[in-house]
Amino acid sequence: MHKKRVFSGVQPTGNLHLGNYLGAIKNFVDLQNKFECIYCIVDLHAITNKQNPKELKSNILETVASFIASGLNPEKNIIFNQASVSAHSELAWVFNCVARIGWMNRMTQFKEKAGANKENASVGLMVYPNLMAADILIYKATHVPVGEDQKQHLELTRDIAKKFNNDFKCGEYFPIVEPLIPKEISRVMSLRDGKKKMSKSEDSDQSRINLKDDKDLIDQKIKKAKTDNDSIPSEINGLKNRNEATNLISIYASINNVKIDKVLKEFGGKNFSTFKSKLSESIIEKICPIGKQIKKLMDDEKYLHKVLEKGSKKADILAKHNLKEIYDIIGLAKFS
Ligand code: TYM
Repeated sequence: MHKKRVFSGVQPTGNLHLGNYLGAIKNFVDLQNKFECIYCIVDLHAITNKQNPKELKSNILETVASFIASGLNPEKNIIFNQASVSAHSELAWVFNCVARIGWMNRMTQFKEKAGANKENASVGLMVYPNLMAADILIYKATHVPVGEDQKQHLELTRDIAKKFNNDFKCGEYFPIVEPLIPKEISRVMSLRDGKKKMSKSEDSDQSRINLKDDKDLIDQKIKKAKTDNDSIPSEINGLKNRNEATNLISIYASINNVKIDKVLKEFGGKNFSTFKSKLSESIIEKICPIGKQIKKLMDDEKYLHKVLEKGSKKADILAKHNLKEIYDIIGLAKFS
């Protein structure tokens, strides 16, 4: 039996949004009181796409600031950046040799991110899920809070763990991880198109609520958010094939910690303009204090560096210990 341990990661690509918050970070905060948690700023994942070095440095700090501003306690959790703990990359290489090319070819996120010009994508982008498996398994983490878009990568992590355990006949050395995906909203969708995920890479800023957006901007984005002409249904069945309506109702449920049925009972039969003003209020109440705190923390880079330094040292001890065991299982040794 493995000790319960939570691991998750967020890319430092700047401007975290409501999707990152409701899909992942909100859950990170809830879990900190129940488990031992390790939260990583996955800077090595970010460089699978071209980054501006100056912006990357600042985005790494802003991601730490966003974690803390959202309620993560750096004294209670290990908060660190991936590049500080070299065992992630070392285990990723091992997993490059465990995972099969066919497995990589099935990854939908690679296909989406590489787009039409697959030949021109970085090799790193293709083997990205192996690094993700290494992030988790170097700590033998058992639970991974993520949004639904990461589910396939976690299935791959399970396959890698099983193949490694099997190939090297090492029992259940690596745990078979459990994804923790939020129930009320597993995928926050774009405010402009209910079929697309809310994402930083979407051109229109109107498609997302950023954690640093101010009150007026949030209000304006929600007012303009796409809906349909029908009123709000009283039962879940009435949301069928209504992607935009489902998205807004689910955001409201998640941000207020209530079930979707309860929201429908409250607003069923009403039109969207009444609902939207309540939705804006809820988002503003939750997100604006986080945005203000991010900006404040960004003025204290020294503090943010200290958090990373402390977290990285703790993570490095755990990771080095496990890497030694892993190398030994494989028949490798480190003489330096
Ligand atoms: P990233 O940086 O794209 O997103 C960070 C977290 O936010 C969630 N998320 C969403 N959830 C719901 N709706 C959305 N629209 C939405 N957009 C983003 C993501 O699911 C994620 O949980 N590969 C990962 C980072 C990673 C990782 C790991 C995660 C690297 N190593 C190990 C877990 C464990 C990624 O790119 O997430």
